[in-house]
This record gives sequence, C-alpha cells and structure tokens, in this order.
Amino acid sequence: MKLVISLGGSVLMSDFPECKKMRAFAGEVERISEDNEVFVVVGGGRVAREYINAARNSGANNTLCDAIGIEVTRLNALLFASHLSSAPKEIPKTFERAVELSKLWKTVVMGGTFPGHTTDATAALLAEYVNADLLLNATSVNGVYSDDPFRNPDAVKYERLSPKQLVDIVVKGEIEAGSSNVFDLLAAKVVERSRIRTIIFLGEPGNIEKAVSGNFDEIKKIGTVVEP
Ligand code: UTP
Repeated sequence: MKLVISLGGSVLMSDFPECKKMRAFAGEVERISEDNEVFVVVGGGRVAREYINAARNSGANNTLCDAIGIEVTRLNALLFASHLSSAPKEIPKTFERAVELSKLWKTVVMGGTFPGHTTDATAALLAEYVNADLLLNATSVNGVYSDDPFRNPDAVKYERLSPKQLVDIVVKGEIEAGSSNVFDLLAAKVVERSRIRTIIFLGEPGNIEKAVSGNFDEIKKIGTVVEP
C-alpha cells in the first residue's frame, strides 16, 4: 500500500526535547515501511505557534506567518527523519522531489509547502499527487466530533463520515496562520475530490499501526474513518 501519514506537531513534539514519543512513532513508521511505501508529513506544533505569534505581534501578515510556520514544520521533519534509517535526511520542498526520493527510500519525510493551509492539507495534496491508498491524520483528538470536545462535553464523536460530511464539519473552523482545527478545510476538500480513504485518529504510539491494520473495530476506538 501507498500511505501518507500526517503527524501533527502537537502530538509528535509534545515531550520535546525528550522525544520519547518521536522515537516510538519512528519505530512504528520503520515497521510499516517494510511492507508499504510511506510518506510522512510533519507539523509544527507549539513551537510553530510561538514563532507565528511572535511574528504576528510584530506586525507580520498571515502569509509571512505561514512561511515562518513552514520553516518550523521542516525543522521538525528533519528531526523526525534523523530517527529513521528508512528515510533520507533531505526534506523535500516539492511533491516532485518527494516522489524522486521515494524511488530510492522506503520512507520520505516532509514538512509544509506553501502558505494558506496546514500540513494536513499538504498531506492530503501529497496523497492525491502520489495516488495514495490511504491518508492517515494523527492528531490530538480521538476522531472527528460534532463540536470541539474540549469545550463542549455534549459533542458527539463520528465513527464514519463521508468526505462531504467532513467538509461540512470543518468549514466552521478558522483559517488563520497557527489556528488549530481537527482537520484543515483545504485538506477536507482535497479528500472530497480525490475520494482517498482517510483516517483521523488520536496520535499516540501504537495507533498508526492500528489505523493501517484495516480493522474497523479497532480503528473506531481511536478515530474516525472518512470514505465515500
Ligand atoms: P501545522 O500543520 O503544524 O498546523 O502548521 P497545526 O494545525 O497547528 O498542526 P499541529 O499543531 O502541528 O498538529 C503550522 C503552521 O504553518 C503554516 C500555517 O500557518 C500553519 O498554521 N503552514 C504549514 C503553511 O502555511 N503551509 C503548510 O504547508 C504548512
């Protein structure tokens, strides 16, 4: 299978600089890449938000804030790649280069690409570009809810959604640089048009392998499956 995994910075970097989680995720990715072609897109997390806030407080516009966020995602991507023997220590800036590298390596790690969206959308566009079989989005929530579950205790979790339903849910969120939604609107629109099977799940070590397993009974405990 060809897989694209979006690893949110907030899950990957939560114990930085200890990086125990990063080592655990790296182990999973190495195991998965033995039987699959794997692309990982790494997010910026708290550090990206701090840089973006500092830039915004000094008057930077959203495009410049996005550019700063992208640099942080690329830095995190290189740190993650340094934990993987299956991946090159080059972080591609384009999808074309990512594909070139994938011909030589089992895993390719990248960060953001251009302003206006988050790495969820980068991952969805990459999944479309490489005709991936599956898009995995590891995030800080165990799936998609009817509302923000951290703020609204009555929010209901969805086990399955159509791409159109996903778009309708995330369209209510914000698109400012550094804003945090369960899934980026552009990513949802790309999933809708490309009809790629997508799993949005809690980014804890062990869960990537569960998501890849295809076992819906296991997957519904940790996330939401989006498919036409
Ligand atoms: P992230 O993908 O990390 O955003 O990109 P996030 O939603 O905060 O995700 P977590 O916290 O890592 O899970 C950080 C910022 O970098 C810019 C955006 O401003 C985004 O909010 N960015 C990232 C881009 O403009 N383009 C990209 O391709 C990627």
